[in-house]
Amino acid sequence: MGDTSQWNSQLSFLFAMIGAAVGLGNIWRFSYVVYSNGGGTFFIPYLIAIAILGIPFLILEYGIGYSFKDSFSNVMKRINPKLEFVSWILLLFVFIVLIYYMVILSWDLTYLTSSVTFSWGSDVAAYFVQNVGGSSNLSNLGSLIIPTAIGALIIWVIVWFISHRDLNEGIGKISKILIPALFIIMIGIVIYALTLPGASIGIQTLLQPDWSKLTDINIWLAAFSQILFSLSMGQAIALTYASYLPEGSKINDNVLLVVFANSSFEVFTAFGIFSILGFMSFSTGTPMVQLVSEGTGLIFVVFPMIFNIMGIMGHILAPLLFLAILFAGITSAVAIFEPMVSSMEDKLNWSRKKTVTLLSIIGCAFSLLFTTGISSYLVGVVDGFVNEFGILFLIAIQCIIFAWIYNVDSLIPVINENSRFKVGSLWKAIIKYVLPCFLIAMWLIGVYYLFADVDSFEAIVYVIIMVLVLVFSGILTKINSNK
Ligand code: ALA
Repeated sequence: MGDTSQWNSQLSFLFAMIGAAVGLGNIWRFSYVVYSNGGGTFFIPYLIAIAILGIPFLILEYGIGYSFKDSFSNVMKRINPKLEFVSWILLLFVFIVLIYYMVILSWDLTYLTSSVTFSWGSDVAAYFVQNVGGSSNLSNLGSLIIPTAIGALIIWVIVWFISHRDLNEGIGKISKILIPALFIIMIGIVIYALTLPGASIGIQTLLQPDWSKLTDINIWLAAFSQILFSLSMGQAIALTYASYLPEGSKINDNVLLVVFANSSFEVFTAFGIFSILGFMSFSTGTPMVQLVSEGTGLIFVVFPMIFNIMGIMGHILAPLLFLAILFAGITSAVAIFEPMVSSMEDKLNWSRKKTVTLLSIIGCAFSLLFTTGISSYLVGVVDGFVNEFGILFLIAIQCIIFAWIYNVDSLIPVINENSRFKVGSLWKAIIKYVLPCFLIAMWLIGVYYLFADVDSFEAIVYVIIMVLVLVFSGILTKINSNK
């Protein structure tokens, strides 16, 4: 590798991996997914998804990274030189995720500053459209949302500052600070939320089981998608972080710890979110069904509305929540950045500093494209395509490559060597047979929904992304790395 980077402790690696997994998805996605997919019943497919997708695939990713000790593009090249092109396609898709993830963090930064004086006012939805996320009106494409653009620049500078430093001084140190801070803030918020009047209404709504949903394919798909997204699986992140592990690391045990931390965090946070929604329902008489929404609507519209009526506690909780989101997002952003950094470092034979600086400038320029008057709409369009069409397909392909082209048998003694939790033929059967079939099926269903009602703007965006990704993958494959 360009730098002989290695984690200086298992703790740095663990915090970095937990930081990669715990992100926006855990805070604003999970609770909505549980609520809209059978409530308490959802935990059955969720636990099964952890057992047959989350844990086995992460062990595979960690194992490959740990035994190759190389960047993602080099690993694929070493398995078969023809696979380098495929590796760049995935790396570019993941880089696109980073480009818009930084914009979401910029919205959060705007809210963090607004939370000091509650400058979002009483019409929070209008505030979001005008000052933060814009709308889907394409005529606003030509205008820039200044706070979002400035926020994106600031977030890029922060991520550049962390990532351009030595691995342990940058990502290692920041994860060891931000992850405990995030957990402490969240524990505080959730404990307070549970004491609010109406909290039990929220929790009952969240957990209300609907057993009939167990026969509905959609709740199974939702559980598997949540695990894929929340654990940042198959995006070369775990593989890259594990490539920095020293000999003697406990691969399987580390996976179990990361999965446990990630799931506990999202379940715990969901209780807090629904307690706060329950408080709103109790205080204003608004039915829960009108309050629950997904993602940006929940965090950037419903929550500020609740803080507005909460009195002094609202003024304490609001900055804490937006700070927690920022911490969770920054540790995920540096992780999403790392596969591209490590592969480009090897490709160009450049130092970490120089590679990170170049990629940050390019990434930041592209992020600015997402700060126009259609910011949140464009993020949604690109997010759907990149994840459901691109990354999900490439996760299935990686499973096939690692399980069938690379000899997965040789990995078993390596990953078992220092771990208490051992894997064997059952793990191999899941990786070789169950996951490829399952992931391809999920991809086909996702693609069907994605293209079922595509409009002309979305189609243009999809084509631009595909052309850019394929052209740059071709160029990067052609560059001779002299390695
Ligand atoms: N896994 C990260 C998240 O949940 C990317 O946001």
